Amino acid sequence: MAHDGDRVDPERVRVILALETSCDDTCAAVVTNRGEIRSNVISSQGVHDRYGGVVPEIASRHHLDLIGDVVDEALSGAATSLADLDMVAVTRGPGLVAALLVGVATAKGLAAAYELPLAPVDHLHGHVAAAFLAPGPFEPPFLSLIASGGHTQLARVTDHGPDYEVIGQTLDDAAGEAFDKGARMLGLGYPGGAALERLARDGDPDAYAFPTGQRVDGLDFSFAGLKTALLYRIRDLGEEEAERRRADLAASYQRAIVESLAIRVERALLRTGLGRLSVGGGVAANGPVRERMRSLGVELHVPARELCTDNAAMIASAARFAGALSYPDYLDLDVYATGERALLAR
Ligand code: KG4
Ligand code: ZN
Repeated sequence: MAHDGDRVDPERVRVILALETSCDDTCAAVVTNRGEIRSNVISSQGVHDRYGGVVPEIASRHHLDLIGDVVDEALSGAATSLADLDMVAVTRGPGLVAALLVGVATAKGLAAAYELPLAPVDHLHGHVAAAFLAPGPFEPPFLSLIASGGHTQLARVTDHGPDYEVIGQTLDDAAGEAFDKGARMLGLGYPGGAALERLARDGDPDAYAFPTGQRVDGLDFSFAGLKTALLYRIRDLGEEEAERRRADLAASYQRAIVESLAIRVERALLRTGLGRLSVGGGVAANGPVRERMRSLGVELHVPARELCTDNAAMIASAARFAGALSYPDYLDLDVYATGERALLAR
C-alpha cells in the first residue's frame, strides 16, 4: 500500500477497490484498510441453471459485460472515485481461468491508469479473511472451515495471512458440490444448495442413513460415496416413491453432509487445541450447518450471508495482508486455475 501520502499521515484511512470474478458472480467492493465495507456489489449471472453447472466461456463473457457497471456501482455506492483509491485488489486464483482473466485484466487497467498498487489475492485467503471485516472482526487464532461450491478446506489460522496451514481438504467433491449434485438428483435447479435446504425443512433427517465417511480417519473430506448412495437410494425406491419421499431424501442427505463437516471440525478442534471456529463459503449460509457448528460449544463466527458466498469485500479484506505490487510490476501478472497455485513461484 505504498503511496506518497503514507509518510505524511499514517492515520489516513486508505481505500481499496477489489474485484472478484473467479466463478459466475461478478463482484466489486470498496473497503477501507480498517476493514470497513463502504460498498459490496454482487451481480449473479443466473444464466448457468439450464446447463446444470457453470460454463466457463459463458461466465467469462458475462463478466466482460457486467464488470464495468459493477465497478461503477461499487464506487458510487461508496461515494468515491478511481482517483481517490489507494489500492486495487483482485482474485488471482484459484478458479475458472477465463473468468479470472476478466477481473485481473480489469484490475490491471484500473490500477495502471492511476499508477496504483495492485494486490493479487488468493480466493481462499479471501474466504478466510471475510472473518477480519468490520464490524466485530474475528481475530486469529482460530480454526477456519471454508465450504463452498469449489472448495472444502480446514485451516489453522494463526495470523492474518496470506499463508495459513491447511490441515484438511476434500479428496473429491466440495461440500457445495455435494449439495448441488444431490439437488440435481432430486430435480432441483443449479446451484441447488439453498433449494435442497428448503425442501429438507419438510423432511425427516433420520429417514435414510447416508454415509458420512466418519470411519475415514483424519481431517480430509470425501463426498463421492454420499452422492452415489443417494443415486442408488433413488433408484431402489423407484420413481414414484422417490418423488413422494423427496423431502425425506433431502433432509437425510443434508444431515449426512452436515455431520461429515462436523466430524472433521470436531477432530480438528481437538487436534489443534483451538477453541474458536470461523465458518465461511457458500455452504455456511445453510441453517443446519450453522446450528450444528454452534452445537460444538466453541466460540463461533459466521460472517453475514453476503460475505460467506463469493464477494469482493472479502478479497479487499485479504488484500490488506496479502502484499501489493507497485506500478508497473503487475502488468504481466497471470492468473492460476484450481490446483495450479503450487506450481507458481510466489
Ligand atoms: O462460496 P460460493 O458462493 O462459491 C464458490 O466459491 O463455490 O458457494 C456456492 C456454493 C454452491 O454449491 C451452493 O449450492 C452452496 O454454496 N450454497 C448452499 C446454500 N447456499 C449456497 N449450500 C447449502 N445450503 C445453502 N443454503
Ligand atoms: Zn468461493
